[in-house]
Amino acid sequence: MNPEKRHVLLLWMLVCSGMTEAIEPFSTSIAVGMAAALTGFLASYQNIFYYFNECCRPEWISFNKTGLEVDLESKLFGQHIGSRIILKALTGFMSNDNPKKPLVLSLHGHTGTGKNFVSKLIADNIYKEGMDSSFVHVFTSELHFPHSSKLDTYKSQLQQWIKGNVTNCERSMFIFDEMDKMQPGLIDSIKPYLDYYDKLDGISYRKAIFIFLSNAGGESITQIALDFWRAARDREEIELKDLETLLSLSVFNNKNSGLWHTSLIDKNLVDFFVPFLPLEYRHVVQCAMAAMKAKGLRPDKNVADQVARDVNYFPKSERVFSVKGCKTIENKLHYYT
Ligand SMILES: Nc1ncnc2c1ncn2[C@@H]1O[C@H](COP(=O)(O)OP(=O)(O)OP(=O)(O)O)[C@@H](O)[C@H]1O
Ligand SMILES: *[C@@H]1O[C@H](CO)[C@@H](O)[C@H](O)[C@H]1NC(C)=O
Ligand SMILES: *[C@@H]1O[C@H](CO)[C@@H](O)[C@H](O)[C@H]1NC(C)=O
Ligand SMILES: [Mg+2]
Repeated sequence: MNPEKRHVLLLWMLVCSGMTEAIEPFSTSIAVGMAAALTGFLASYQNIFYYFNECCRPEWISFNKTGLEVDLESKLFGQHIGSRIILKALTGFMSNDNPKKPLVLSLHGHTGTGKNFVSKLIADNIYKEGMDSSFVHVFTSELHFPHSSKLDTYKSQLQQWIKGNVTNCERSMFIFDEMDKMQPGLIDSIKPYLDYYDKLDGISYRKAIFIFLSNAGGESITQIALDFWRAARDREEIELKDLETLLSLSVFNNKNSGLWHTSLIDKNLVDFFVPFLPLEYRHVVQCAMAAMKAKGLRPDKNVADQVARDVNYFPKSERVFSVKGCKTIENKLHYYT
């Protein structure tokens, strides 16, 4: 091994496993000598941490409250309730050094309203690597649990994954996409991890974050948004309490979805139900403008209007809400620019 490689390896050990653990076996004088050598080495590489694999340490994982606030404000359109709850939930949880249980968020709403998008914004503001972080795990039923006959295998596999990943890093994030398509029972198998346990088999899950995404309850959220629209009331006047009862009722009574047979709700394991409102014409325009910007094009209001006009809206008579939300807007731009 050449000297430089050895340095790098040594540093990798120190950075990833924590100074104390790595130094313990050595005598103090060696440690001091090493520290001195390291200081010199570190000084010559200011961005030293970027040279190494991602580690479960604050250099790679730290919550940026301002960052999340700015992102929610400037990138997420039409979700005044959702963004408020999410900022509050994350800020409370991440500033607590000793949470009593993991954070469990359940995001609900019509298609294309930003549920996956928000999960990405959350990941971006906790993990330096964002969604690419090795501590962020996304599960989708079609990809990870496609065959209903293999439920038992999936259950134990999922438990192993969560256990293994939280053992690696207690600040792990698990996103369960399209929860409505998950088989009944699968989510039951992770219930213990979401609960108020100090430790399970010596592992604490209390710093982990679980995010469930589903369309369940979307209909009733849409109904309320439509009621407000018909009454010519400002969308921003919709409050969580207007949605809460209906949302939990419709989610509770939806016998078809895997999540809701479980006792996640009656056991209060979900900390926050986050409703996503259906998007209107003006939000589609905003999405189109943002998509142009993201593509490095100059945002052009005329083009955005054109895109938004060509999108389908419902209900048929009033054409208030975009059928696919802001989904496919990015691809549609292709035809206009
Ligand atoms: N409220 C929003 N504000 C800004 N952009 C949005 C919003 N909703 C959707 N988008 C854009 O549309 C894309 C698709 O949205 P996303 O995948 O988050 O929808 P979803 O709510 O997960 O839908 P589904 O229920 O079909 O999975 C996002 O990547 C984002 O670019
Ligand atoms: C947090 O986010 C803000 C706004 O995006 C950014 O200016 C700031 O540099 C970020 N802070 C850290 C420590 O990354
Ligand atoms: C962590 O989760 C992933 C799935 O996202 C899985 O492939 C991997 O084996 C898990 N790691 C451990 C150590 O269990
Ligand atoms: Mg989605």
